[in-house]
Amino acid sequence: MTFNPPPVASARPAITAALMEETGLDEAILRTLVHRFYDRVRADEVLGPVFAARITDWGPHLERMVTFWSSVALMTGRYHGAPMPAHATLPVNWAHFDRWLDLFRQTATEICPPAGAAHVIERAERIARSLHMAVEDTARGAGMTPSLR
Ligand code: HEM
Repeated sequence: MTFNPPPVASARPAITAALMEETGLDEAILRTLVHRFYDRVRADEVLGPVFAARITDWGPHLERMVTFWSSVALMTGRYHGAPMPAHATLPVNWAHFDRWLDLFRQTATEICPPAGAAHVIERAERIARSLHMAVEDTARGAGMTPSLR
């Protein structure tokens, strides 16, 4: 059988090709998803100000988020970053994550084929729960050296 590599740079071309086939997703769809999603986030009255306080130049953030979703959804290995520290000290609670997920679900459902939308939404929900835990742990001072006295 001939192996046709996917039309996207990937550290795991066979897995990426299989995921593209299964989900109907590709880099162009993920790029549109990211751009439309952050248009919504920036216009949102709850989330907009949290992002505006930290991001002035949206170009690099959007590029980073395209590589992130490429890595998460298609396992291309294109993202090299650390989401946890970027969120741990944000002034947010679960209501912010819930809103984030609402906007993400709306956008994914509009932009992606159904299997692709389900794929990215499931991953977003899982990552949102981990990021929320990181925020809560930081607020509680978890991870500090325990006092032995
Ligand atoms: C309450 C919801 C959220 C808020 C307010 C938020 C806000 C932010 C902000 C302000 C940054 C930029 C940080 C900086 O460059 O200093 C950022 C980065 C990022 N966010 Fe979120 N975020 C949220 C939820 C999520 C979720 C659910 C995901 C993943 C599914 C996510 C993935 C990322 C990633 C990958 C970065 C780039 C981290 C890096 O490599 O530096 N975020 N976020």
